[in-house]
Amino acid sequence: LQSGLAQTPPLGWNSWNHFGCHINEDVIRETADALVSTGLSKLGYQYVNIDDCWAELNRDSNGRLVASASRFPSGIKALADYVHSKGLKLGIYSDAGYYTCQKQPGSLGHEQVDADTFAYWGVDYLKYDNCYNDGSKPENRYPKMRDALLSTRRPIFYSLCEWGLDVPATWARQIGSSWRTTDDIEDKWESMISRADQNNEFAQYAGPGGWNDPDMLEVGNGNMTPEEYGSHFSIWALMKAPLLIGCDVTSMDKKTYGILSNSEVIAVNQDPLGVQGKKVNKLGDLEVWAGPLSNNRVAVVLLNRSNSRTIITAKWEDIGLNPSAVVRVRNLWRHRELEANHQGSLTASVKPHGCKMYVLTSVSH
Ligand code: DGJ
Repeated sequence: LQSGLAQTPPLGWNSWNHFGCHINEDVIRETADALVSTGLSKLGYQYVNIDDCWAELNRDSNGRLVASASRFPSGIKALADYVHSKGLKLGIYSDAGYYTCQKQPGSLGHEQVDADTFAYWGVDYLKYDNCYNDGSKPENRYPKMRDALLSTRRPIFYSLCEWGLDVPATWARQIGSSWRTTDDIEDKWESMISRADQNNEFAQYAGPGGWNDPDMLEVGNGNMTPEEYGSHFSIWALMKAPLLIGCDVTSMDKKTYGILSNSEVIAVNQDPLGVQGKKVNKLGDLEVWAGPLSNNRVAVVLLNRSNSRTIITAKWEDIGLNPSAVVRVRNLWRHRELEANHQGSLTASVKPHGCKMYVLTSVSH
């Protein structure tokens, strides 16, 4: 959707992966505070997104959605004001069905009144889920909310959460700023890596204006190793996926912060060229992922899906470089350039379930 909001993938946080339904206005405020105090907001993480479970079960007498009186007693408008006062943006959640997945009121048939309510509150981002729908085509339900949001004239990032459908990427680009390509992620290596594979299938549909969404980050939630979380973040960044932090940012450990705050990896994700990196070669569990960046640079991830340390080689012919090109190589996790320039290929030893991530810049052809 060319709304001007999604020139690069969105960066921020969402409540679901860590908090589930255990959310309230303090969680959202403290998250906004922590994004600022940790410096993550300066690195670009700007959206603070409330997921399912924020609403009362019944609409008010005017048919408007109402924030839960016990969990959000100050209301969403006050929360939006607070989040905006920190220089951040507020996201909210609804559903293209009768109910949300957690059985709160859905927006099907209430698209305009809900879009108007969100705009009035000062909401900047809407995640729109697909539970309890009427069985009609999502291609018919999702545009209604798009049009309702556009008619408010407030810029609102529109995140389609139409999980469970075969190939949303083929139609969703006209409708949303991003669209899910997978079912829900879990905080497990197999779950994460299989979502990367599924998302990879739709690489050609991503670009400025709309992005494939393999679901939100699990980095920092505790069930993967630091190596695995590093791979998760690297591949999501390379695939131009939304980078929506899914852990509790008020209590991150050093390793979690080190991963989420890697400005060089974030820069790959936010590169203005906006081309989704892809899996370009694989030999069993050893994979090379790569994608072009602006200024004729190339981003490369060497991913080791096996359980032992292994050597992986990226060949220029696989990653879109002229075989005779000589390149300068920067290691994004070590924050340094390799001493020697490379020609023809790049080889490195990679830890089990880990990766190496580089940016290659040609110095001659
Ligand atoms: C399903 C979505 O895919 C999740 O990300 C989350 O929003 C839940 N619904 C909330 O019920």
